[in-house]
Amino acid sequence: MTTTQTTEQTTEQTPLDIVGGARRRSAGLEEQIRHDPGRFRVLTGDRPTGRLHLGHYFGTLQSRVRLQDAGVDTFLVIADYQVLTDRDVAERLSEHVEDLLLDYLAAGIDPARSTVFAHSALPALNQLLLPFLSLVSVAELGRNPTVKDEIAHSRQAAVSGLMFTYPVHQAADILFCKANLVPVGQDQLPHLEVTRTVARRFNDRYGRQGGHRGEAGQVFPEPEALLSAAPLLLGTDGTKMSKSRGNAIALADTADETARLIKGAKTDGERHISYDPLARPEVGSLLLLAALCQGRTPEAVAAEIGDGGAAALKRVVTESVNEHLAPLRARRAEYARDLGHVRRILREGNERANAVAEATLEEVREAMGTRY
Ligand code: TRP
Repeated sequence: MTTTQTTEQTTEQTPLDIVGGARRRSAGLEEQIRHDPGRFRVLTGDRPTGRLHLGHYFGTLQSRVRLQDAGVDTFLVIADYQVLTDRDVAERLSEHVEDLLLDYLAAGIDPARSTVFAHSALPALNQLLLPFLSLVSVAELGRNPTVKDEIAHSRQAAVSGLMFTYPVHQAADILFCKANLVPVGQDQLPHLEVTRTVARRFNDRYGRQGGHRGEAGQVFPEPEALLSAAPLLLGTDGTKMSKSRGNAIALADTADETARLIKGAKTDGERHISYDPLARPEVGSLLLLAALCQGRTPEAVAAEIGDGGAAALKRVVTESVNEHLAPLRARRAEYARDLGHVRRILREGNERANAVAEATLEEVREAMGTRY
């Protein structure tokens, strides 16, 4: 969703054993969530870099709302300190924060049940960064494949200390509220490993003597990743959907803008519409998008269109998207009419999260023997 510090697919690969393990565990976790949602506390979030698009919505937003609705205690961080090194973004930070919050609310995040906050507003969270930094080596930080990739794609002349260390800051985002479940995409798995390492080392070094692992001796849980089975939606030009490429349909776009974008979407010369994502990636992605909106399979959507060609396909996709997004867009517009109320929601989220962060910091002081 960003231009330079991306959440987009990385070219540096997350080690495959880590991905495979996380995928297997995620299936088991989904099962446990169904049976006992109260056992979990979720923390996840986004960098405020602009409006969210359909890739974000079907990739992560929808599953967060599902977790919230299932009764899982959910925290969402608006990671504003993570975008400071991106000048273009930093200059319009408050606007981006507002847009992100509006997109959350539009998608169905309910501020009465989920806590949305900006991590810059939580001094106690940020203070955790210092002891956490003492628990990781510079060499370990340098090996992080996602950070390496972001540095490689960064337009900045030099790598800032903040950029180099942000996975440790992210550990503070997660551990301040003792989240045990972190829904993320694959590119975030190396960061979650950093969080788990920090939690383990902190517990080993400062955990109270006499407690057993998993009991009194532990200050922090070692959180698990919940990998979303994110469908791969392409942008309207057939490349990865990304705001900076102008090929993305934003949640906040109007029905007309959506129609225009889909009208210009790339397809292929074949009149018969079939779902074959490998041989026909553009048509496949459009079918998938319509299918996600309709709650059906892409094969069924394709069969219905049959020999209707690209024009019929685009008509179906446009109608499906606009129909599916209509209630979200209405909700977004309603919130946008009262930005004072939206800012109050964030302030209340900050307050709630701050109280949690203060309590954790107290425990950390106690464990480290720095309560003077
Ligand atoms: N780095 C994440 C991204 O770019 C955003 C983020 C910040 C995050 N802190 C987090 C995600 C903690 C999960 C947990 O998308």
